[in-house]
Amino acid sequence: MSRVDPVARVLAPEAVGSTVDIRGWVLRARSQGGLLFLILRDRTGVAQVTVRRDRVGEAKFAELEHVQIEGAVRAHGTVAVDPRAPGGHEVRAESVDVIDAGQPFPIFKDQTEEFLLDRRHLAIRSQEHVAIFRVKAQLLGAFRRFLEAEEVIEMTPPILTGNPAEGGAEAFRFDYFGRPGYLSQTAQLYLEALIFPHERVYAITPSFRAEKSRTPRHLTEYTHLEVELAWTDLDGTMEFLERMFERVLHDLADRCPSELTKLGRPPEELRAIHAPFARRTYEDAIAQLRKDGFPVSWGSDLGTAEERGLTLTETSPVFVTHYPRELKAFYMKRSESDARTVEAADLLAPEGYGEIVGASARETDLASLVERIQAIGANVEEYEWYLDLRRHGNVPHAGFGVGIERVLRWVLRREHIRETTPFPRTPSRHTP
Ligand code: 4AD
Ligand code: MG
Repeated sequence: MSRVDPVARVLAPEAVGSTVDIRGWVLRARSQGGLLFLILRDRTGVAQVTVRRDRVGEAKFAELEHVQIEGAVRAHGTVAVDPRAPGGHEVRAESVDVIDAGQPFPIFKDQTEEFLLDRRHLAIRSQEHVAIFRVKAQLLGAFRRFLEAEEVIEMTPPILTGNPAEGGAEAFRFDYFGRPGYLSQTAQLYLEALIFPHERVYAITPSFRAEKSRTPRHLTEYTHLEVELAWTDLDGTMEFLERMFERVLHDLADRCPSELTKLGRPPEELRAIHAPFARRTYEDAIAQLRKDGFPVSWGSDLGTAEERGLTLTETSPVFVTHYPRELKAFYMKRSESDARTVEAADLLAPEGYGEIVGASARETDLASLVERIQAIGANVEEYEWYLDLRRHGNVPHAGFGVGIERVLRWVLRREHIRETTPFPRTPSRHTP
């Protein structure tokens, strides 16, 4: 194929008067007398192509009038100034080839959420979704750049596992050649094994949660960024998280200001977020919530409503620390100052969005771990390999997991988390 120009090239000031050869999909089309206006998009942008009947001939013009929204064409012509065209330039076509005229595109304005989710494979072509997934790619890149600079190295832990890691009730179980298998809920236990040879490790993997929770912040499959660090404790981990979020949010503001603005998050709001973040204990959070009229007491879990209450008026993330042991996972280290609590912190996104990170120091005491595994009704034998880590060079370590779609939901002010992933999986949907 001969060389093709990016659509965005049409909009460059120096393009006026030059010839271009562009290809893309029809975003909009309008025919008026002997003129046809095609708005074409490719990955670089959007530009108008104007086709004259007297230029391309009757037959070609008729063929082009039948090209549908999302049909694909290739146009050759000269760039000219036209203040009415998007970006102020247009391509005056000398020739246009139809690559696929397409069938009538089923997606247009004011369709229901369900209708659009059923046609998600097509709906993701919208300009809004294009912007969302560009920001998501930049967000993942920003995390990776930060972690690389901090000398944390990327690992590839398994997704098919023989033991549920976060609690059996929410694990997807399947038949693994006659034995029980589980889709990974967290890479943590494997990352813990990997700190012994590497000290600082991370992974970005899908995590699976078989929770039937139909809330605007739960998916059954989500993108999990997890970090595990040797030789640190909860405080060290919270400092790491503050540094990471400050850097990543500023990086994002620098790299996609136009997408952020378009999606309702002025980049200055991200630039205004600085470490350190507010820290409050669970005990203090409960006292606050009671004052605000929530029916909670020591031992109550903090759900969507409570986290919303705690963060609605905040503009920066907030840590809640030292949760009751019973509310949290078996691997969390018991606090020395208060045996009822664990060395854990959740990072809550501001503006009511709530938990985006779960962090903790890991229990290093073998007997405590066994006791906790038994207390949650799990099979100690399944965790034998994990317990073994405490028998060979046991050292203090800590880590955390970030829900990428949760972060994006907050950053892009989306009502529902499903808008932050191209093919959302929820209890009622695993297709398309
Ligand atoms: O708090 P969680 O369950 O913690 C862990 O899995 C730890 N093992 C992580 C670690 O220390 N390596 O999950 C971590 C984060 C949550 O804070 C939330 O942001 C996200 O994962 N998350 C979900 N995101 C979307 N849908 C769900 N159903 C989620 N469950 C958790
Ligand atoms: Mg959590």
